Amino acid sequence: MDYSIKNICCIGAGYVGGPSMAVIADKCTNKNINVVDLNKERIDLWNSSNLSNLPIYEPGLKEIIKRRRGKNLFFSTEVKKNIAEADMIFISVNTPTKIKGIGAGEAIDLKWVEASSRQISRYAKGKTIVVEKSTLPVRTAETIKSILNSTITKNKNQSESQEFFILSNPEFLAEGTAINDLENPDRILIGGEDDDAIKALENIYSTWINQDKIIKTDLWSAELSKLIANAFLAQRISSINSISALCEVTGADIKEVANAIGKDTRIGEFFLNSGPGFGGSCFKKDILNLVYICKYYGLYETANYWQNVIEINNWQQKRISNVIINKLFGTVVGKKLSILGFSFKKNTNDTRESPAIKICKNLIEEGAKLNIYDPQVMPKIIERDLNLKESIEFDSSSELGEWKFASSIYESAIDSDALIFLTEWDEFKFINWKKISEKMRDPKWIFDTRSISISKEAQAYGFNIWVIGEGKNLP
Ligand code: UDX
Repeated sequence: MDYSIKNICCIGAGYVGGPSMAVIADKCTNKNINVVDLNKERIDLWNSSNLSNLPIYEPGLKEIIKRRRGKNLFFSTEVKKNIAEADMIFISVNTPTKIKGIGAGEAIDLKWVEASSRQISRYAKGKTIVVEKSTLPVRTAETIKSILNSTITKNKNQSESQEFFILSNPEFLAEGTAINDLENPDRILIGGEDDDAIKALENIYSTWINQDKIIKTDLWSAELSKLIANAFLAQRISSINSISALCEVTGADIKEVANAIGKDTRIGEFFLNSGPGFGGSCFKKDILNLVYICKYYGLYETANYWQNVIEINNWQQKRISNVIINKLFGTVVGKKLSILGFSFKKNTNDTRESPAIKICKNLIEEGAKLNIYDPQVMPKIIERDLNLKESIEFDSSSELGEWKFASSIYESAIDSDALIFLTEWDEFKFINWKKISEKMRDPKWIFDTRSISISKEAQAYGFNIWVIGEGKNLP
């Protein structure tokens, strides 16, 4: 049968639901899209008249919201009504790692997916296509299906016509480039069992995406492909980071090595930038989940193999903190250090799993006074991540580590011994070295964990410079 989709509902107004629905609304102006979330504060931000207050920062997002909001794109907390009216429902809720119970620390917590499925089963009417957008453990569709079908059986009399079709349509967008990734994806993956339901979703995407980029597969392969794509990307980063340490001791340069190996088309040039370790909401969570699944099926060698990708990531963060402490004469007690960048990468205000968190925590534990500057991350988020209140003024009589928010790069450098670059924000490439060097204490250091090509000029102002993976740092 043919499903004509007029009303779309998306449960979850976060980093995936918000931007992906905005792009669908922009490309398919004949569809009504309602993004719902139980979090009223978040919905109010999506609806705020000042577009700088949107709950997430993504280049290009504001412009789309301005074009489509109130026309065919709506944000609300009215879950019941919007589910009831929808022909297609996307589940875009977050799926964190479980913190307690069976699989704690590894398995994905499905409580929001389950709650969404129950709401759908309660309120949906007629034939409804349910699309998994959140990254989920393999075979979650089965859980969703059993919740949905259980209500059909229960309400058999009053809902003769109620029918659900489950699709898996994992999202591959990366934060900071979400709009471009959604508008020009490498591929769209649709997993499912019902050809017509698959076709209905395909029709939406084919409005702006070439057919040959739309891959159709079974449910389980689609679900697993998302986990494995993230695991492979993270594995490349751990591989290159492990070699950054080798370059530093042998005199080689990681950028030269990455460039040389990346030219081999079998390897490819992307995801070979050595840095402070990968962060973000997906990589660690998905690998942990992969490890959990492998152990569940008794595949311990496979589980260990992927676990090591995470171990290298943890090690890289610890290694960087240690380099900083060693170079600063073995102690940072009472020293002011300028932390430049706190988000897990540039062009996002997201700090989930940001390597900056662990590195800052290590330095604070060692007694450092950190002046933290990030162009998009709010001080209250840093406070939450470091689990430490911001100091109003540093207490020079105390050996305890502390932190303060700085409102500019230059403010963060006042009396500081080192500039520590942890995120590759573009504005860090345009620093006035004369101005910043005058604010700092000698001997002053730059620790560049992102290879953001600190200009030669900095050297002229007397900085000692350490760059990740550069063997020329050898004494
Ligand atoms: C990732 C996947 O790319 C995306 O497809 C998936 O849907 C969600 O997870 P995201 O976490 O937003 O996206 O960011 P990504 O650009 O992949 O970066 C992840 C981390 O790896 C960042 O901390 C980044 O700084 C780091 N990274 C990336 C490197 O250290 N080196 C690189 O070469 C690339």
